[in-house]
Amino acid sequence: MAKSIIASKYNPCLSVAENAERCGVSESAIRKYIRTNGIDRNYDNKVAKQKAVLALREKNPAMSLAEMARKLGYSVNTIKKYLTLDNAQSETATSKVSTFDVKKNVNNIKSFSFSQDEILSNILHLYAHSETFECDLTYSIGVFYKHLPQPAMKFDKYPQSEDVRPLEEAYNIPDNSLSSIICDLPFIVRGHGKENNAGQLVERFNFFATAEEAYQANLEMITLAFRKLKRGGYFIMKSMDVRCKAHTLWLNAYIQVEAMKLGFVMVDLFILATKSRMLSYRGEKQNHARKYHSYFFVFRKGNSISV
Ligand SMILES: C[S@@+](CC[C@H](N)C(=O)[O-])C[C@H]1O[C@@H](n2cnc3c(N)ncnc32)[C@H](O)[C@@H]1O
Repeated sequence: MAKSIIASKYNPCLSVAENAERCGVSESAIRKYIRTNGIDRNYDNKVAKQKAVLALREKNPAMSLAEMARKLGYSVNTIKKYLTLDNAQSETATSKVSTFDVKKNVNNIKSFSFSQDEILSNILHLYAHSETFECDLTYSIGVFYKHLPQPAMKFDKYPQSEDVRPLEEAYNIPDNSLSSIICDLPFIVRGHGKENNAGQLVERFNFFATAEEAYQANLEMITLAFRKLKRGGYFIMKSMDVRCKAHTLWLNAYIQVEAMKLGFVMVDLFILATKSRMLSYRGEKQNHARKYHSYFFVFRKGNSISV
């Protein structure tokens, strides 16, 4: 469930069905959200009514109680009840409604999650301040956009659909022009054979043949993003520390160092955790901690160093 999408769009004045439509999720997802956040729908309904009554009175101070009741579909007694609550009381009541709980959650964005959708949505909320990313350099089949609008620009080194442009064309985007760019390179570095670390057959677009190729591709993407972003623009890079011939490539450290050398400021780091391991280690004796996480770096283009 796109919890953070619901958190940002949930409206306590709307019904469960209306909220489901507004958030693009099922009604059961909204019910779960209400339950897990301890939201009191009855209380919400009262506050919603009160808001409607006060708003109508403010707009039409001379309107009679009967007219107000007709217009809003409430009884005259309900109208009277909400009009006679004093302001202080109504303000306290309003802050106690679920909107308050929802706001509290929006203000408690965590550095880790089991949901990629939640991390992406939180990055957009905190940094890009937009509904989606402007440019995706590794669009693939667009799994990132299950719950997000499509990016305006989609590229991939090995495009898999017609609306995705070859990565070379991204080099033609005017320099210093974009607000946000996202990139998610393969996280398999093949030693030998046509299998990935999980023992499945892999296509060329899913892996790097050597460690050098992995480092080179990461550097190229960071450099390209730096060149195309305007100052203050955001570069989001998904990555994990990968295995290559029983060794770990600490790509995470490499990305941070190279990005900062160019002039990026690292403003955040989100950790995507999984309950099952992300790479398989078939037949290998365990020498290192097994990876149950990947990273989403958030870099802001700071003072320019020419590239
Ligand atoms: C893990 S997938 C991206 C998945 C994507 N984020 C999604 O939501 O579906 C990695 C992508 O990187 C692309 N890629 C592979 N090698 C690359 C390279 N050397 N440089 C740039 N992109 C590469 C692949 O074509 C592939 O589509």
